[in-house]
Amino acid sequence: MSLPSRITLWEAGARDGLQNEPGVVPTDVKLELLDRLADCGLTHIEATSFVSPKWVPQMGDAADVMTRLKRAPGVTYQVLTPNEKGYEAARQYGAPAIAVFAAASESFSKRNLNCTIAESLERFRPVVERGKADGKRVRGFVSVALGCPFEGEQEPKQVALLCKQMADLGCDDIGIGDTIGVGTPGKVKTLLEEVAKLMPLNSVGMHFHDTYGQALANTLASLEMGVTAHDASVAGLGGCPYAPGATGNLATEDLVYMLDGMGIESGVDIKKLVRTAWWISEKLGREPVSRVAKALKSKVM
Ligand code: HMG
Ligand code: MG
Repeated sequence: MSLPSRITLWEAGARDGLQNEPGVVPTDVKLELLDRLADCGLTHIEATSFVSPKWVPQMGDAADVMTRLKRAPGVTYQVLTPNEKGYEAARQYGAPAIAVFAAASESFSKRNLNCTIAESLERFRPVVERGKADGKRVRGFVSVALGCPFEGEQEPKQVALLCKQMADLGCDDIGIGDTIGVGTPGKVKTLLEEVAKLMPLNSVGMHFHDTYGQALANTLASLEMGVTAHDASVAGLGGCPYAPGATGNLATEDLVYMLDGMGIESGVDIKKLVRTAWWISEKLGREPVSRVAKALKSKVM
C-alpha cells in the first residue's frame, strides 16, 4: 500500500451543501463562503449549478453568483451543467470547469434528471464536447454508485461500465458518488477494482456522503486504492434534493485533519477551515456536524 503525498480536494459545500438547504441561502452569503473557502487554501471549489430553478430553487442565483464571484488566482471553480442550456450559461458566465452528472440507477436518473441513463449520456455528449472545445475542465459524476434510495445496491460491474461510458464522452475525470452515504470500505474497494479494469484510478474522484458515518473510512479505502481526488464539504453540508434521506458530504475539516495527521498535503489551513465551518453553520442556524470542527472550536476561534 503506497499513499499519495498530496491529494486534490474538491470542496462541494457551496453547491452540494447549499442545494440541499430547506431555504434559499442569500447570494451574499454564498459569495462570502466561496471567498472564505479560497482563503482556506482550497484550490478546487464547486461554486453553483446551472440547473432548472424550478427543480432546484436553491441554485436559482447561479448567474449572479458567477457574475459577482471574486475569482481567487489558482482556484478552479466548477459548476453543474445537466444539459446544453446549462452549458450555455456556464460559458456565458465564464465557469472554468463544468460537471455533468449521470446516475447508476434508472429510478434515480428519472428523479434527478427526468430522463433515462441512456438519454442522459446523449444529452451530456454535446456538453462535454463543447466544454472541451472551449478549454474547460470537465467532470462526469456517476451518482448512487454504492446504493440507490429506490433500487438499493448497484452491481459494481455495471457502475464501472457507466464510469467508462462517461470517460469515453471525454470527461477529464469521473466523480464516483455515494449519494446516500450507504457504502462501506469493502464495497468501495470492490467497486474501484472493477473501475480499475476499465480506466486508470488517477482519473477518478470519490464523492462520499456521510449518512451512515462511513465517509472518512471510505475515503481512506479509496486513498489506499490509489485515488488522489476526493470531495468534501465544509461543515459537512450537503445532500441531494432528489435522494430522500441523504445527509451531507464528508466534512472537509474531518478529511483535512486526517490528511494532516497522515502527512498527506491538501494545501488547506485547518484553522481557517474550522472558522469557516462555524461561520457558515451560524448563518444556517445550526452547529457543524463535523467532529473536528467541534473539537477544534475553542482552539481556533
Ligand atoms: P426537465 O423538466 O425535463 O427539462 O428537467 P426541460 O428541458 O423540459 O425544461 C423544463 C424547464 O426548465 C424549461 O423552462 C427550461 O427552460 C428549464 P420553462 O420553459 O418551463 O420555463 N431548464 C433550465 N433552466 C435553467 N438551467 C438549465 C435548464 N434546463 C432546462 N440547465 C433538468 C431536466 C435536467 C433541467 C432538471 O431535471 C434539472 O434541473 N435537474 C437537476 C437536478 C439537480 O440539480 N440535482 C442535484 C445535483 S446532482 C447531485 O447532487 C449529485 C452529486 O452531488 C454527486 C453525488 O452525490 O452522487 C453531483
Ligand atoms: Mg453529492
